[in-house]
Amino acid sequence: MKKILITGGLGFIGSHTVVELQNAGFDVVIIDDLSNSSVEVLDNIGKITGEKPEYYQIDLRIKEEVKDFFNKVNVDGIIHFAAFKAVGESVQKPLEYYENNIGALVYILQEMRDRNIDHFIFSSSCTVYGQADELPITEKAPIKPAESPYGNTKQIGEEIIRDTCKANDLNAIALRYFNPIGAHGSLEIGELPLGVPLNLVPYITETAVGIRKELMVFGDDYDTPDGTPIRDYVHVVDLAKAHVAALKRLIHKENKQNFEYFNIGTGKGNSVIEIIKAFEKTNNLKLNYRVADRREGDVTAAYADTTFANKELKWNTEKSLEEALKSAYEWQKKQTINVE
Ligand code: WQD
Repeated sequence: MKKILITGGLGFIGSHTVVELQNAGFDVVIIDDLSNSSVEVLDNIGKITGEKPEYYQIDLRIKEEVKDFFNKVNVDGIIHFAAFKAVGESVQKPLEYYENNIGALVYILQEMRDRNIDHFIFSSSCTVYGQADELPITEKAPIKPAESPYGNTKQIGEEIIRDTCKANDLNAIALRYFNPIGAHGSLEIGELPLGVPLNLVPYITETAVGIRKELMVFGDDYDTPDGTPIRDYVHVVDLAKAHVAALKRLIHKENKQNFEYFNIGTGKGNSVIEIIKAFEKTNNLKLNYRVADRREGDVTAAYADTTFANKELKWNTEKSLEEALKSAYEWQKKQTINVE
């Protein structure tokens, strides 16, 4: 049985990926510093899969801690989620973002090189494309200058991995996520934003249960059919399964280059208003929302061409937008009950 290290394995995408890896028969070990997650997620993963994963609370910015971990635990591959991810905060605290998102990546890659650990999967982002000139966005689209330090850490991260693959015997895949939403069907794990949510769907769900008074639609004067920006919203369980597919590709040596990157989305774009309408219809409720000013840094439209991932990873999305929006709401309701 292959043992896979999942850094950031208690976070939103990480926890769903741990479940899919366990379901696929992998042995997993999680590292998480709990900076944006809760240790209870471990038990909740166990409730779904019947197996509470091995876990280490480690700060990956501390090189000695990283080294100590690898001295203790042997792994066959690594999926690296651990990172800061708030775009706006990264503008205020660039050095914290570079230290955490780049420093930790370098330390992990050094350990992989020194110990001949081969398979590496990196959480990248569609933000690397900025406002793409052509839609849907293929992997051939040029990388645009990053709009934020956060986005830059993903671009630089990919470059560091590319250079490392060239110099050392490492095989790696970067997955460029579009907009992950939803929660696990069991409702044991889901998204747990700290404070006021920055992303659309968590803001919608918190508005729906009354934690937030009103949802702001950030601009309706974009060059899109209804004037609101278009994104590719992908169910987090589908996204999690893409990691299993990518890992199997590396393990079975099916990769065509030692560094590859794939778009992970549904291939469909939806506007903010379409998401609001779909959420209302699916969950049979009315949302309190109004149009406000544009948010700085938002692109008009971004959705994936997933042909490459479909063919090469043999991966397709299985879940609908409605399923994602329903699970997101059910998950939110469950959290709210727990708080009361
Ligand atoms: C979606 C749309 C907003 C909140 C995210 C991450 C980014 C990257 C990609 C990982 C936009 C609008 C939002 C609200 C709104 N992920 N909106 N009211 O900006 O596409 O980027 O996914 O690398 O880091 O942040 O996602 O959910 O923030 O916004 O009108 O209260 O919803 O303007 O058009 P985004 P989002």
